[in-house]
Amino acid sequence: MRGNYEVAVPCKCGIREKQILESKLSFATIPKEFKGHTVENFRTDCYSSPEAAELAEMAKAIAGNYVIQFKEIQETGKGLYFYSAVKGSGKTRLAVSIANDIICKYFVSAKFATTLQILDEIKSSWKANGGETEQKLIQDIIRVPVLVIDDIGVEQSKGWIEERFYNILNGRMIQKKITIFTSNCAIEDLGLDDRIVNRIQKMALPVSFPNESVRATLARQENSELLARLLG
Ligand SMILES: Nc1ncnc2c1ncn2[C@@H]1O[C@H](COP(=O)(O)OP(=O)(O)OP(=O)(O)O)[C@@H](O)[C@H]1O
Ligand SMILES: [Mg+2]
Repeated sequence: MRGNYEVAVPCKCGIREKQILESKLSFATIPKEFKGHTVENFRTDCYSSPEAAELAEMAKAIAGNYVIQFKEIQETGKGLYFYSAVKGSGKTRLAVSIANDIICKYFVSAKFATTLQILDEIKSSWKANGGETEQKLIQDIIRVPVLVIDDIGVEQSKGWIEERFYNILNGRMIQKKITIFTSNCAIEDLGLDDRIVNRIQKMALPVSFPNESVRATLARQENSELLARLLG
């Protein structure tokens, strides 16, 4: 163990490494929809306009090189911030792919959580009798080496929420932990407290995504295939 995280020790048969990898993947709580996705199989041919495809290619290249150079970048604490106004453009898909690749390539622990899941966990810690206290939960979130915070900006901006986000992000920033964000707004448009916006600017490189919904395109394709099957 190093700190609270296991470090893989190579063994001849590879079984131990496989077990550690499996436990890291289950710890990551990656949604089923995104399991097994890698940066390499992120498609750039599913965007219809050339501008959208170009932006997607740039995002994919950044993600690929981020994984390759992860060990050096990890020392700097710099993460990524994927954003697009249009929903369904592939932000979560690529963010999760980076986490999957980092787990498999470097055996580093990563975790996926939407901002609403984080807030729900914090709220449950208030009721937990003898369970995890809020402070312990926040410390655990701060300690995760690579954290995907999905959909930042959808939460209401209430005092208690901003206070918790401030604590989590400030803790992660100070400890140079890697955070990968996805959002539907640019960092400066998040509408969050300046102290939080400032920290996200320090912690992550903004990467703009195409304003085109792959989700809608895929849904149309799936529906027409299903319709053909049902009618055929
Ligand atoms: N480039 C891509 N290659 C393959 N599948 C993709 C790609 N982009 C998106 N998808 C698929 O489209 C769906 C929507 O993608 P995703 O959830 O990543 O979008 P998003 O930008 O995070 O959307 P939102 O803004 O609503 O959170 C998912 O099923 C995802 O697997
Ligand atoms: Mg998303």
